[in-house]
Amino acid sequence: MQYENLLIAEEDGILTLTINRESALNALNTRTMQELQHFFGVDAPERSHLKGIIVTGAGKKAFVAGADIKEFLDLDAEKGAEMSLFGQDVFFLIERFHKPVIAAVNGFALGGGCELAMACHLRIAGDDARFGQPEVNLGIIPGYGGTQRLIQYIGKSKATELLMTGDMIGAEEALRLGLVNHVVPPDATVDKAKEILNKIAKKGPIAIQKIIETVNAYFQYDEDGFASEVASFGHTTGTDDFREGAAAFIEKRKAAFKGK
Ligand code: COA
Repeated sequence: MQYENLLIAEEDGILTLTINRESALNALNTRTMQELQHFFGVDAPERSHLKGIIVTGAGKKAFVAGADIKEFLDLDAEKGAEMSLFGQDVFFLIERFHKPVIAAVNGFALGGGCELAMACHLRIAGDDARFGQPEVNLGIIPGYGGTQRLIQYIGKSKATELLMTGDMIGAEEALRLGLVNHVVPPDATVDKAKEILNKIAKKGPIAIQKIIETVNAYFQYDEDGFASEVASFGHTTGTDDFREGAAAFIEKRKAAFKGK
């Protein structure tokens, strides 16, 4: 596959994957999600020599500012559920990848961007990073695993607050809550990720693969939480409120929700 929105650079066995849509703050449009699916499903598994993968965003302003809201306008309940299921499957490929995958996060990691970072095994945040799940501002819920993984990382209480308010948190709070592993100066995120990958590369590769599998097994995937997210995401994308929320974002005005 010819990648349009992903940049791939490999050095010393470490592959850096950059989401490259800087003018849209690296928002995950359908094409980018398809490219991620191909990369983690087909391309990366063939690169057996890799120590690991770093996922980052182009430019200084954003890691990824979410799913591409400009593609949202023709969603309905059925298409919304399909979109959620597809996004979850792509992010499962990352979470289940047999080599370590580290997110290097600068700037905004919102919505699908926060979900992408959470699907990676570890997260290094620049001190300028901002995390959040602002989907409720559009009248929908996270659909790429965010409702489940946020709870897994930071616990039900704080996760419910962030999911309900759509509030953003800074890097230090993300560290305190356990959402990120390290906070470093903004220009040091990739280097810190490389340092960790080089350390892990000295360990037994089968052991590392089994760590990934067994840590994932703790959460008993494919059970109700993720299925419930698909159903609820689909439900919210079928509402008038969602159409109003997405239109308001694009028209740069406040949404007027009616609860319909
Ligand atoms: N989808 C599509 N386009 C997006 C986007 C998204 N999720 N996030 C940002 N963009 C686009 C903006 O529309 C804008 O494009 P334009 O120049 O053609 O108008 C460009 O990226 C820059 O964003 P802008 O909003 O002008 O930057 P800002 O500094 O004022 O605000 C954010 C930055 C991240 C706070 C703001 O862009 C935002 O709230 N984005 C949406 C976040 C979100 O709700 N994500 C979850 C989606 S489910």
